[in-house]
Amino acid sequence: MKAKAKAQIILVGSAGRVGQEITKHIESSAAAELYASIDHKGRGDFVAIDRVRPIKNAVVVDFSTTANFRESLAWAVKMKLPFISGTTGLSAKDFAALGTAAKTVPLIWSSNMSPGICLFLDFIENFGKRLAEYDLLIEEAHHKRKKDAPSGTAKTLQSVLVRSTKKKWPEPISIRGGGIFGVHKLWVMGEEETITFEHTALNRKVFARGAIAAAAWINKKKPGLYAMRDVFRS
Ligand SMILES: NC(=O)c1ccc[n+]([C@@H]2O[C@H](COP(=O)([O-])OP(=O)(O)OC[C@H]3O[C@@H](n4cnc5c(N)ncnc54)[C@H](OP(=O)(O)O)[C@@H]3O)[C@@H](O)[C@H]2O)c1
Repeated sequence: MKAKAKAQIILVGSAGRVGQEITKHIESSAAAELYASIDHKGRGDFVAIDRVRPIKNAVVVDFSTTANFRESLAWAVKMKLPFISGTTGLSAKDFAALGTAAKTVPLIWSSNMSPGICLFLDFIENFGKRLAEYDLLIEEAHHKRKKDAPSGTAKTLQSVLVRSTKKKWPEPISIRGGGIFGVHKLWVMGEEETITFEHTALNRKVFARGAIAAAAWINKKKPGLYAMRDVFRS
C-alpha cells in the first residue's frame, strides 16, 4: 500500500512556547514535516508562501494570539488548506468564523491537544448524571505569562460539565504562577467526602505531539469541524 504523503506544516506562532516545541518534535515525526515558520519576529510570512502555491499536503498549524488567530484562519481558507489551532482566549466572533470556515476547509480548534484531556472529557460525559449529585467546581493553574483566564481548557471542561449534568456550576477558579504547564482539576464535593480528578501536563511536548498528530490526521480530510477526540480515536 502506498504510504500517505507527509503533512507539510505551516506553523504560525513558531517563536512562541508551543511553536518552539512543535519545531523541536516535528523532526522525529514520520507523518509530518515543517514547511514554513511564521512569526512576528519575521522568519517568513503569508505573502511569501502565497507566491509558491500550490503547496501539496500543506496544513496551517496556529499557536499564536487571539489578535492573530483570525488572520491565520482567513489565510487557510483563502489557500484552501486544512487548519489546526490551539490558540485560546477566542471570542464568540472567532468561533463563528471557525464555523463558517469549516464549510470550505477541514479544521480542528482545540483548547487542549493532549490525549489525557480527551479522556477527562469522555469521563465527564459518561458520568454526568452521577456527578450531578455533588457540588462541582473546576480549578486550573498555569504559568504567570499566560494571557487568558480562565484557560481555554477550563472553559471546555465547564461547558461539557454543564451539558452532561444539565446544571449550572460556579465559574472555574484560575491560579497563575511560576512555570506551570497546565493543571486542570475537577472538584466533586459531597457533605462527607470529596473526590478530585486532576490532569497535569508534565511538559509542552504533549501539546506539540497532539498538534502534529492532528495535522497529519487532517491532511486530505473533507471540509468540516473535527475534534481532537476524532484524532485520538482513529
Ligand atoms: N491547545 C493547546 O493544547 C494549548 C497548549 C498551550 C498553549 N495554548 C495556547 O496557544 C497559544 C500560544 O501559546 P504560547 O504559550 O506558545 O504563547 P506565546 O509564547 O506567547 O507564543 C505566541 C507566539 O505567536 C506569535 N505571534 C503573535 N502575533 C503573530 C502574528 N501576527 N503572526 C505570527 N505570529 C504571531 C508571538 O510573537 P510575539 O511574541 O512577537 O508577539 C509568539 O511568538 C495561546 O493562546 C495559548 O493559550 C494552547
